[in-house]
Amino acid sequence: MRLNINHYQGREQSFIKHLFLQKYLENAAYKLFQGRSPVFNFVDAFAGPWRNSDSESLSDTSFALALTTLENVRGILTNLGHSNLRVRFRFCEKNPESLAKLQAFATSKTDFDIKVFSGAFEDNLSGIQAACSDVRDSFTFTFIDPTGWNVDSRPIFSFLKDLRGEVLFNFMSEHVKSCGMGWCCDIGRALPC
Ligand SMILES: C[S@@+](CC[C@H](N)C(=O)[O-])C[C@H]1O[C@@H](n2cnc3c(N)ncnc32)[C@H](O)[C@@H]1O
Repeated sequence: MRLNINHYQGREQSFIKHLFLQKYLENAAYKLFQGRSPVFNFVDAFAGPWRNSDSESLSDTSFALALTTLENVRGILTNLGHSNLRVRFRFCEKNPESLAKLQAFATSKTDFDIKVFSGAFEDNLSGIQAACSDVRDSFTFTFIDPTGWNVDSRPIFSFLKDLRGEVLFNFMSEHVKSCGMGWCCDIGRALPC
């Protein structure tokens, strides 16, 4: 699916974010499904919807984009003879209004394995972990896209360490550069600040 640039007027950084997410997911799914694992879990930890324009199909949200992208890869590979490929979606959202929209979206997608977690991601880590690691050898891709840097990173990094998979952490550098210590204490990496 091609992203519709018209849905991203005034929020071009989200267009780039979604383009990157789409391309990364596509490549990861092709590789995983053709070798490592028949089960691909996609965790959208800070799912939204958030400032989207397409209020009908929510095509300009990370969770809808991930669903279309991964289902497309699964369908193509299934037609090529790969059997029993499964994509599972675990979405989490804290804001009640966004959560209601996310739940309505999930309910409308009856053909998909979607679980929605309500509340802070940090408070749902064990439930999400259980809903991903219940299938042995499954692969989990976690998308972490908070607004700002107001996340409790320690339990999140521990969650990521315990899961077999990859993570895409999206943040604005200006949000982690203000601690004044010359390095980022949260992620423990040398960052110019
Ligand atoms: C930047 S937006 C996500 C945008 C979405 N990933 C996308 O690309 O379409 C961040 C979302 O996280 C939600 N949020 C904020 N703090 C949260 C938390 N601790 N746990 C889960 N969701 C949270 C906000 O309500 C908001 O909807």
